[in-house]
Amino acid sequence: MSAVIMDGKALAAKVKSEVGAQVAQMARKPGLAVVLVGDDPASRVYVNGKKRDCGECGIYSEEYALPAETTQQELLELVETLNGREDIDGILVQLPLPKHLNEKEVLLAIQPDKDADCFHPFNVGELMIGENGFQPCTPAGVMRMLQEYGVDPAGKHCVIVGRSNIVGKPQAMLMLRKNATVTICHTKTRDLKAECLRADILVAAAGRAGLITGDMVKEGAVVIDVAMNRNEAGKLCGDVDFAAAAEKASYITPVPGGVGPMTRAMLMENTLYAARKHGKQ
Ligand code: GUN
Repeated sequence: MSAVIMDGKALAAKVKSEVGAQVAQMARKPGLAVVLVGDDPASRVYVNGKKRDCGECGIYSEEYALPAETTQQELLELVETLNGREDIDGILVQLPLPKHLNEKEVLLAIQPDKDADCFHPFNVGELMIGENGFQPCTPAGVMRMLQEYGVDPAGKHCVIVGRSNIVGKPQAMLMLRKNATVTICHTKTRDLKAECLRADILVAAAGRAGLITGDMVKEGAVVIDVAMNRNEAGKLCGDVDFAAAAEKASYITPVPGGVGPMTRAMLMENTLYAARKHGKQ
């Protein structure tokens, strides 16, 4: 089998244009504050992309680029100020934070109805209980892509490689909501290959280039590569050996141009959702 390549870039453009069309009708525009602490180059690239997306969708955005020496108190005070502002509907604190800062305390300080990332424990709990609400951007982007390509997770075996709070764990919850049977694998999984070979839908989110080789993919499986690594040549790549996996898979996402653009598009949807919750029309 030769896989259909799932075009995250094209779908993200469609999602953003749908968000933009709704925002254009609104008298009070959604607003997103993006907070970046320190000078991690990857984070800088992500933040620039998020600001650009806001511009494309007509969403008001503000960037706070704080020095690496920012104290916990200063950061919490900024979040508190943003919590109180009516023009700001979503607050995103770019992770990872510098080591001296307490990430959990910062995420807890963000008002749950402004938590565009869906990282606040309240929203994580809602996700688990199955209520409507925010969904974390990357896992939500994966679900949207499956929907677009007509892949229904119901009854399928979904194997997720990686158990992070940002991707692996919430991805499992969203798959479960869609009635998939879910396995989460991690570094202590005894036979990763055997687990992966059972997957109808394989989600690679471990952050290790070359981890998923072609012989770990079942014939006809849907392969979603969430990871963003750099290989020895400095080139962007995921966890999956794309060429080998594409020979086996029915559908596969490329890196770049797969899940990454979808993550950013879902942030725009979340910001719009927050603005609606705040009564903006
Ligand atoms: N760092 C890596 N991914 C993300 C994300 O989705 N949101 C935030 N805030 N930080 C990240």
